[in-house]
Amino acid sequence: MNLIKFEDFSFKYSGQAQDFVLKDIDLEIDQGKFILLSGITGSGKTSLVRAMNGLIPQFYHGEMIGNVFVKGKNTREVPTSLLSKEVGLVFQNPENQLLAMNVEREIAFGPENLGIEWNEIDSRIKECLKVVNIEHLKKKAPFELSGGEQQRVAIASVLSLQPELIILDEPTSLLDPLGAIRILLLLKDLLQEKKVSTIIVIEHRLDLVLPLSDEIILIDKGRIIEQGKTHEVINGDIFLNIGLNIPKCVSVFQTLKNDKLYQGKLPLSVQESIEIIKMS
Ligand SMILES: Nc1ncnc2c1ncn2[C@@H]1O[C@H](COP(=O)(O)OP(=O)(O)OP(=O)(O)O)[C@@H](O)[C@H]1O
Ligand SMILES: [Mg+2]
Repeated sequence: MNLIKFEDFSFKYSGQAQDFVLKDIDLEIDQGKFILLSGITGSGKTSLVRAMNGLIPQFYHGEMIGNVFVKGKNTREVPTSLLSKEVGLVFQNPENQLLAMNVEREIAFGPENLGIEWNEIDSRIKECLKVVNIEHLKKKAPFELSGGEQQRVAIASVLSLQPELIILDEPTSLLDPLGAIRILLLLKDLLQEKKVSTIIVIEHRLDLVLPLSDEIILIDKGRIIEQGKTHEVINGDIFLNIGLNIPKCVSVFQTLKNDKLYQGKLPLSVQESIEIIKMS
């Protein structure tokens, strides 16, 4: 069974005069991958992930056509509080997500709402603090923390529900490059250590995220225009031509290709570029 399955799905927010924001989506997401969801601003990325845990249509109302299934459960029928056990969503601005008095309480919030026993909650708090490396912050109030620390707390508070899939909407947008690398590497570790089975990241810093991604989904004007392995997608025609912020190492080799000076695959990272140069 797919983790997530969109079937002939379209959506338009209520009160919105114009076109549907998500159109004719048939998409399947399977376990065990680090997936990059990419598209230009306004293309529908955030809306798409809202539909993956039932926020669309349960919280954001509108006209919905077709269905979305989370491990076979229809998101029209199963409440988001239950879907959050399968799909954890970390919003773009973690400040809006962090409401408790301190970090420990924040992590406990989700499991408490699901009526999980206190002993179990206590052990989940300890585990989550450790996994995202914020044990020293457990008594602090979220507003006392830096952007990177808040992002870790938001991730821990979603992990405490032990979801299979964790989705992060621009997790590094408030961070400097080093903070961004740290968060992205933390995500990769979560996957490798099997704390979650699948990760979907919306991320504009393609130079940082491409080397970590197994798969890319491209969205444009509300339609899924490509889904495939990272190397295949970046070497296809679409990726370079939809207005994304293409990393230098990719665009340099593309220029060489256009000038018939290079014929191989485009590299995903500076490291891969160096390997290519060494071999040539
Ligand atoms: N709550 C809402 N109500 C009405 N329209 C909305 C709502 N949220 C998003 N939209 C509209 O849906 C379209 C897609 O927006 P969405 O936020 O999904 O795009 P995005 O790809 O995440 O963009 P960005 O990269 O800027 O975050 C836009 O036209 C936007 O104005
Ligand atoms: Mg968005």
